[in-house]
Amino acid sequence: MALLAWSKKYSVGVKKLDDQHEAFMGSLNDLHSAMMMGKGQEIGGPLLDKLVKHARDHFAAEERLMESSRYPGLAGHRALHQDLTRKVDEFMARYKSGDKAMYLQLLHFMRTWLDKHLLEEDSKYVPWLKEHGVS
Ligand SMILES: [Fe+2]
Ligand SMILES: [Fe+2]
Repeated sequence: MALLAWSKKYSVGVKKLDDQHEAFMGSLNDLHSAMMMGKGQEIGGPLLDKLVKHARDHFAAEERLMESSRYPGLAGHRALHQDLTRKVDEFMARYKSGDKAMYLQLLHFMRTWLDKHLLEEDSKYVPWLKEHGVS
């Protein structure tokens, strides 16, 4: 079972961003499945790298659209992305130091963060992007 499944309630009305959100969740689910199958040791590292890459690429793309449409909430939203990026960097440092307990904590943290961020923060820019013709 997926840790977090994309559904319409998460849609922000911009195909590229929806696809990225779905891929972001997919990389979280892949890591979760690997852990459940006891394959964390084997493939955890590359899956973590993929997750981090999805997050960084998505944040950059989302912020670019906010910038080009002059979204007034950009600074605050960017700060939330930066907080998450810092938090993920801390998890990665723990991973590199051999702390295996970080996996489950990371999955729990990211699942909660992503769900909340999409529903409570990304959802705020939906009307603005729509009004400004971003699709
Ligand atoms: Fe966001
Ligand atoms: Fe987003």
